[in-house]
Amino acid sequence: MNYSLINIKTCSSLHKDIGNLSFFEAEKDLPFEIKRVYYTYGVKKGETRGFHSHKTLHQLLVCVYGSITVALEDGHSYEEVHLDDPSVGLLIGPGVWHTMKWLEDDSVLCVAASDYYDAGDYIRDYYEFLDYAENLEEKIES
Ligand code: TYD
Repeated sequence: MNYSLINIKTCSSLHKDIGNLSFFEAEKDLPFEIKRVYYTYGVKKGETRGFHSHKTLHQLLVCVYGSITVALEDGHSYEEVHLDDPSVGLLIGPGVWHTMKWLEDDSVLCVAASDYYDAGDYIRDYYEFLDYAENLEEKIES
């Protein structure tokens, strides 16, 4: 499936307990150019968002606070990734249906995206997604 987990560079304070600092840099740390950053917050435990796939967009998801489960589907398989560490990022490419379930109140999901917001890049209908994923696979194979 078109996703992977990456470690985000992190500076931890070794001598004093002043917390950690994680960062990623455009053109250095991600396999795409960052054109947009957005974050989702104020979400209650048990809420699920997402329910869409993208046609071309690549994204890096980081749960910078709290705990979120991301469910991923590509038309053949289903996997769940649990995000609760701000030094771990989840890269999701096009053609992956994803939902994000909040496991703790007020968890924060920060996303770096490869393009500007475009409503036309979304597939929000599940059956349309299944067709799209199948065609995408045929294109990759030929
Ligand atoms: P959406 O991507 O559907 O969020 P989620 O999958 O977390 O529910 O976006 C929610 C709304 O916000 C939708 O009306 C589109 C709008 N939006 C923007 O205007 N700009 C953005 O960069 C994003 C990500 C969403």
